[in-house]
Amino acid sequence: MASVSVDDAMRRAIALAARGLGTTSPNPVVGCVLLDPDGEVVGEGFHAYAGGPHAEIVALAQAGRRARGGTAVVTLEPCDHTGRTGPCSHALLAAGVARVVIAVPDPNPVASGGAATLRAGGVDVELGVRAAEAEAGNVAWLTSMRRGWPYVVWKYAATLDGRSAAADGTSMWITSEAARTDVHALRGTVDAVIAGVGTVLADDPRLTARNLRDGTLAIRQPLRVVVDTFGRTPADAWVRDGAARTWVATAAEVGTGPDGRVDLPALLAELHHRGVRAALLEGGPKLAGAFLAAGLVDRVVAYVAPKLLGAGPTALADAGVGTIADAIDLEITDVTQVGPDLRITALPRKKEG
Ligand SMILES: NC(=O)c1ccc[n+]([C@@H]2O[C@H](COP(=O)([O-])OP(=O)(O)OC[C@H]3O[C@@H](n4cnc5c(N)ncnc54)[C@H](OP(=O)(O)O)[C@@H]3O)[C@@H](O)[C@H]2O)c1
Repeated sequence: MASVSVDDAMRRAIALAARGLGTTSPNPVVGCVLLDPDGEVVGEGFHAYAGGPHAEIVALAQAGRRARGGTAVVTLEPCDHTGRTGPCSHALLAAGVARVVIAVPDPNPVASGGAATLRAGGVDVELGVRAAEAEAGNVAWLTSMRRGWPYVVWKYAATLDGRSAAADGTSMWITSEAARTDVHALRGTVDAVIAGVGTVLADDPRLTARNLRDGTLAIRQPLRVVVDTFGRTPADAWVRDGAARTWVATAAEVGTGPDGRVDLPALLAELHHRGVRAALLEGGPKLAGAFLAAGLVDRVVAYVAPKLLGAGPTALADAGVGTIADAIDLEITDVTQVGPDLRITALPRKKEG
């Protein structure tokens, strides 16, 4: 087999890591490629699920003795602690790997230190190769670990004139089945789905990840979170069925913010404590406005249908913007057509100063 460059191996490791998206939480996604001393690929691996073997261990098992004197190319700093599995730094040392190339350092104080251990063991360690790409592939986990609350994606559906329902309140369905199927796939990649009690009272959604055609549930379901100051979620609401875990987050449990409603930073801190790294905020307009006003949205995913309503509620209520200079600026990072609809992904721009 032909030899590959470390850069190509890192590109491959990043692609491998992505296969774990949605199943590794509360752990990160990680990919690893092992090259022998001649630069030939002798092992590949990714972290597939929490509690399962780490990417390095999978790749080392494939490589066997051919790892000796070789290079491990890995998207995240190898762990240095014994959790549900042993430290990868020790496994790499035991295999006799001569060089370890890492894209991103581990921000988790419990697991970091792998690079130092490897260096102390005489291994040549290089950090930062394709770091931006690897960071993007792990953005939810890295962001949530660095700051202590989950990465929040606000998803909404609207008509081309920005409305989420008609004047008579009907809203099913604004977007196509293709777009709604896409949303269910998105739910399958996060640890929690968040909605306000207003949406639960109006629509009685299930908030599960499922196949829209036959209703079968995805194997892994996000935690359903209803933000409900006074505990008004009905006992027979769909979100209380047994299809997935549900947390009705009340002010009594979480505390209240300045407006007397559920304290949103405290809610997110508690979700992080419960192992939630990525959360999908599914609205509705009031809760989304409150999240945006507090600067708690990391990414916006809008499904825009080629329909006009002219009247009816808008997808976003008050977000603390009183004048055009205070508009929440977004940077569009992707526009994809999904069936007849557009899926627009955008990132809120950080305010200067
Ligand atoms: N197009 C879309 O993508 C989409 C998505 C979801 C919903 N919707 C539509 O939205 C409509 C419901 O609108 P909505 O605005 O009432 O729903 P909502 O945003 O889901 O719920 C709002 C409620 O959440 C509770 N809440 C608790 N803590 C809060 C906080 N810190 N900040 C803000 N709210 C907090 C408040 O009730 P308490 O004070 O009682 O707790 C508030 O009235 C439905 O008709 C639904 O169809 C549309």
